[in-house]
Amino acid sequence: MTSEFNVHNAAGYEQLMGRWSRRLARKFIDFTGISDGERILDIGCGTGSLTFTLARAADLAEITAIDYSPVFVEDVIRRNTNPRIKVRQADACALPFEGGTFDRALALLVLHFVPEAGKAVAEMRRVVRPGGVVAAAVWDHLGGMPGMRMMVDTVAALGEGGRQLRGRYCFQPMMQPGEMKRTFIEQGLEAVTEAELMIRMNYRDFDDFWAPIAAGEGPLGKYMAALDEAESERVSVAVRDAYEAGRPDGPRSFANVAWTCRGVVP
Ligand SMILES: C[S@@+](CC[C@H](N)C(=O)[O-])C[C@H]1O[C@@H](n2cnc3c(N)ncnc32)[C@H](O)[C@@H]1O
Repeated sequence: MTSEFNVHNAAGYEQLMGRWSRRLARKFIDFTGISDGERILDIGCGTGSLTFTLARAADLAEITAIDYSPVFVEDVIRRNTNPRIKVRQADACALPFEGGTFDRALALLVLHFVPEAGKAVAEMRRVVRPGGVVAAAVWDHLGGMPGMRMMVDTVAALGEGGRQLRGRYCFQPMMQPGEMKRTFIEQGLEAVTEAELMIRMNYRDFDDFWAPIAAGEGPLGKYMAALDEAESERVSVAVRDAYEAGRPDGPRSFANVAWTCRGVVP
């Protein structure tokens, strides 16, 4: 198994995460650094949050965006009008490129869905030229996402299935402090630095928060999709109560922290 990501549909992903990962993309680019004329590989492009932000951030020679899921590849191809952006289906653990092809290989919110994440980092290193940069960011599900923790803690309090979901969710690959940095160093990258990036996710109301999850999007949506109607309603009522937190339904804002790492190819 090379991807644990639950793909439902591109519009649902946009509402669940794409609209927020675009904000994170800007901070991630500031952290990795890019320069005019570079060739960049965007691994696990999803709906193109990083891809299209990169295209606006510098006069790049080429952006190659790959994703394991044909659903996302088709979505980005359909929306792309920039001839410097090339999109194709590929696996982060077996990149279909010659060694040293790119100036940078970037993976935004991807490695925590790759069971053999070290293999993906090794591939990123292989396809980047000496002196080029490999960088990645993953969410800190355990300690850095109170909005999503609110849901997994609520379902964990409701039963064993929810407790198992929380255990899986909080300990996906690369999420523990220092884990990604160690992996980068193990894969031979140099001058490895780790940092944290924070964005806020601002919801209009509970439905704005809940609709993509209730529709089956992402890891929490996958859990919801497996419940029967009564259990799904019980979870929805309990999560709504947590979201509202004793005030009338309306806007709520949650901080979200990602671990990020960059290293240089020797
Ligand atoms: C949370 S989404 C992130 C998408 C996008 N980078 C963003 O920030 O919005 C994770 C993406 O990683 C992709 N993915 C997971 N495993 C992969 C693999 N082994 N190879 C390539 N893409 C993978 C998924 O298909 C999904 O598009």
